[in-house]
Amino acid sequence: MTMSPSICLAILLLALVSQSPASASIPGTSNNGFAVAAPSVPTATQFLQAHNDARRDVGVAPLTWNSTLEQDAQRYADRLSIGCKLEPLDIELIYLQNTYNGSGYQDGAAVTASWVNGRRWYDYRANACVPGHDCGAYKLMVCSTVQELGCARRTCRSSPDTVAVCSYFPDCDYNDRPY
Ligand SMILES: *[C@@H]1O[C@H](CO)[C@@H](O)[C@H](O)[C@H]1NC(C)=O
Ligand SMILES: *[C@@H]1O[C@H](CO)[C@@H](O)[C@H](O)[C@H]1NC(C)=O
Repeated sequence: MTMSPSICLAILLLALVSQSPASASIPGTSNNGFAVAAPSVPTATQFLQAHNDARRDVGVAPLTWNSTLEQDAQRYADRLSIGCKLEPLDIELIYLQNTYNGSGYQDGAAVTASWVNGRRWYDYRANACVPGHDCGAYKLMVCSTVQELGCARRTCRSSPDTVAVCSYFPDCDYNDRPY
């Protein structure tokens, strides 16, 4: 039996309509908690989702994206991309930041994954990093008093390597446990 063209069209339209809620994902939604690994995911979404996954893992409320913080991160990442090193810059720090540099092209998900790696070095009882290891970026990612973030990645000026910055607001008291 063959379907008439109009029934075909109706079925197609139904399929499209029923798909639209799932495909209408906006930055800030976390796809029911499942990370989206497709490379087509916008950089902002990659950064935001990885932060909120790490926060959910320890029971901390999600962050929202803030374009003022994104501009701050872009400004700082632009400058870091010149030397490609994690050196302090002669520009005023307005917000708390996490910074990154790494070999080759690294997307937002890879950058945040390197920070989340610090989780294994964070001693919650002592509220300190295991000596000789860095967990500071992870602590800032999951800090419960932080509410907003904005991030940017840049390819270095004179190599295919990556620098990235996330700026956070309002504050995180490093003397307190992050959560
Ligand atoms: C974004 O952050 C800036 C600086 O902290 C703040 O003034 C502004 O209200 C924030 N915007 C939104 C939409 O939350
Ligand atoms: C990252 O920065 C450090 C200095 O902070 C530098 O030694 C290293 O070469 C940089 N890595 C890359 C991939 O540029």
